[in-house]
Amino acid sequence: MTDTNNRCIDDYRLTLGTEEFVPLMLGGMGVDISTRKLALVFAELGGIGHLSDAMIPTVIDKDFKTRYVGDRLKQYKTNVGNPDKSIAQFDLGELREAQTRHVEEAMSAKKGSGGVFINCMEKLTMNNPKDTLKARLNAALDAGIDGITLSAGLHLPSLDMMKDNPRFRDAYIGIIVSSVRALKLFLKRAARLDRMPDFVVVEGPLAGGHLGFGMDWAEFDLMQITKEVMAYLKESDLSIPVIPAGGIFTGTDGVRFLEEGAAAIQVSTRFTISEECGLPAEAKQAYFAAEEEDIEVNTLSPTGYPMRMLKSTPAIGSGIRPNCESYGYVLDGKGHCSYVDRYNEEVAAHPDEKKISVQDKICLCTHMRKYKVWTCGHYTYRLKDTAKQNSDGSYQEPSAGHIFKDYQFSSNDEIKKPA
Ligand SMILES: Cc1cc2nc3c(=O)[nH]c(=O)nc-3n(C[C@H](O)[C@H](O)[C@H](O)COP(=O)(O)O)c2cc1C
Repeated sequence: MTDTNNRCIDDYRLTLGTEEFVPLMLGGMGVDISTRKLALVFAELGGIGHLSDAMIPTVIDKDFKTRYVGDRLKQYKTNVGNPDKSIAQFDLGELREAQTRHVEEAMSAKKGSGGVFINCMEKLTMNNPKDTLKARLNAALDAGIDGITLSAGLHLPSLDMMKDNPRFRDAYIGIIVSSVRALKLFLKRAARLDRMPDFVVVEGPLAGGHLGFGMDWAEFDLMQITKEVMAYLKESDLSIPVIPAGGIFTGTDGVRFLEEGAAAIQVSTRFTISEECGLPAEAKQAYFAAEEEDIEVNTLSPTGYPMRMLKSTPAIGSGIRPNCESYGYVLDGKGHCSYVDRYNEEVAAHPDEKKISVQDKICLCTHMRKYKVWTCGHYTYRLKDTAKQNSDGSYQEPSAGHIFKDYQFSSNDEIKKPA
């Protein structure tokens, strides 16, 4: 293990273009878990905070009392009982409008020398993968986002989708990969446009959310993949900052990566229990209380990617009727979602039952929207060591600023709890 000799993250800087940042990036957490408020703390303190654009019309409805979801449901109401969901399309104009509002709200409130980026998932296929992703990416650029991080997919067509945007070469654009193989494919497409990414996030197997690995995730190691990516970029004569993510729990863990040549680190789990995080208090307390054996990686997500979550996730086993006419974010472009298929099978198998249960898939949209999928990073069970406990056994939510500064200035594997 690298000797960190009292060093802390603040001894390093991330350089992107002509700008310098504290080398701490908040990972994008959907749906509205990495809120604008949380991302803005990172920007204010000189790091980079990510918004997420997952299910953005419903997030904007919640924040600004708009009616995107209600209007969509009205439009497709007669389809609710239909197992075929292909008709339920998103209005691209409204999608652009919601994305613009999200980004403009954040950018106009931004203070400090840091950045606000947005995490755009390719796997959010929205029953029309190409047009909806293109609308989200370009609306974010037009609304003035500092950077875009392409996630949850290989993103082979994504740069092409932005190439005519006036900010294509001025905003920072990066990609999340979990292997050199995925990076090579993306770089090949980037080379064709003469638009190399400005940074590469390497996400390892201990991250929260969906994983870029199979169920053999435990055989992989973040440090090893990070070194492989850095070696590949070096031998290709490419000077692109590499930012590891997944299981970096202390500032000193981060220093170990920075010492090896990483440009920054991306972190999320420590911030899931912060005051500014979008998760409800009940979920935050469940994260605090979790022990290692309470966390699993499973195949319940209809996206096809393994996902890490608390075993006590309320959505598990729920057999609710799919809400694709309101949401429909993981419909594959032909109106399919594996939860919808499984739900229909269960209904057909139990025609007389009012309440059915689906055990092997989750209605991801509905339950993420309601914060009933408690996805989390591997080290969630260590969160109890980062906060003060009340006499009733519950924990106090630290501020994001406190956690940021703990990462930035702590050394020797120490974690400072709030005073
Ligand atoms: C609650 C939670 C939700 C997440 N949601 C997303 C997401 O929507 N999209 C994404 O690309 N990554 C997502 N991630 C992954 C993080 O952005 C990040 O890369 C990773 O979790 C960092 O590792 P750490 O949580 O161990 O610090 C999520 C992580 C957590 C903990």
